[in-house]
Amino acid sequence: MTTEPNINMLDRNKIPKHIAIIMDGNGRWAKERGLPRIAGHWAGAKVLRSIVEFCAEIGIQVLSVFAFSTENWKRPLDEVNLILNLLLYYLKKEVNNLHENNIIIHITGEWQQLPINIAEEISRGIELTKSNTGMILNIALNYGSRKEIIKACRDLCIDVKNDKIGIEDIDEKLFKEYLFTKNLPDPDLLIRPSGELRISNFLLWQIAYAELWFTEKYWPDFKIEDLLNAILAYQNRERRFGGLKK
Ligand code: FPP
Repeated sequence: MTTEPNINMLDRNKIPKHIAIIMDGNGRWAKERGLPRIAGHWAGAKVLRSIVEFCAEIGIQVLSVFAFSTENWKRPLDEVNLILNLLLYYLKKEVNNLHENNIIIHITGEWQQLPINIAEEISRGIELTKSNTGMILNIALNYGSRKEIIKACRDLCIDVKNDKIGIEDIDEKLFKEYLFTKNLPDPDLLIRPSGELRISNFLLWQIAYAELWFTEKYWPDFKIEDLLNAILAYQNRERRFGGLKK
């Protein structure tokens, strides 16, 4: 008999500061049920709500979720539009609730290039929640990590050209300042459901020392128990950051 993990099993002194999740498997979840793919995304959004609540409750400082990648534009226009509409609905519905729960909305990616109604809603959410003091919900939208790194390089070059910084000033700390996540700690734990064992261009720079955790479950089936299992696994890992065992 296996014991279901519960919140009391967590070591409160080793709660990850930052958890990142690639919310994958929505399409396959829907297909297995004979439903349209968008039904999987709706079910995924519902799961996200419960995970956000739970992460805030256990004291996670940052929760990053991959909601829409720059590569997702390659999907059929119908699906892209449906995902964007879902995002809009989610934002309209959830922003006030997130605010009441003291959560700060942070977006990683070129969100200003999204359709105007979505960009406006995002802007409202960021503005409304910017003085909150609780968990940061970092939503990756219109985001691709390689594009982010290229943009950082370009912005750095502009600052070198304008004599704002010297080439000799460039180090890891300064480079971080040019990323969307400049104000966030790096993820400690990266979770990917759906059985895929890859990173898919998500926070490549930032996850250099993150612990990785995978599950076969599709995102719409992901439960608080799965998150607990991921955190418990994380708490049992030894993080050496390239050094030696203490
Ligand atoms: C990947 O599953 C999922 C996405 C591309 C979209 C994720 C979006 C949500 C969960 C909606 C909620 C998000 C917010 C912020 C409201 P997939 O379509 O690649 O699944 P598949 O690999 O099974 O086809």
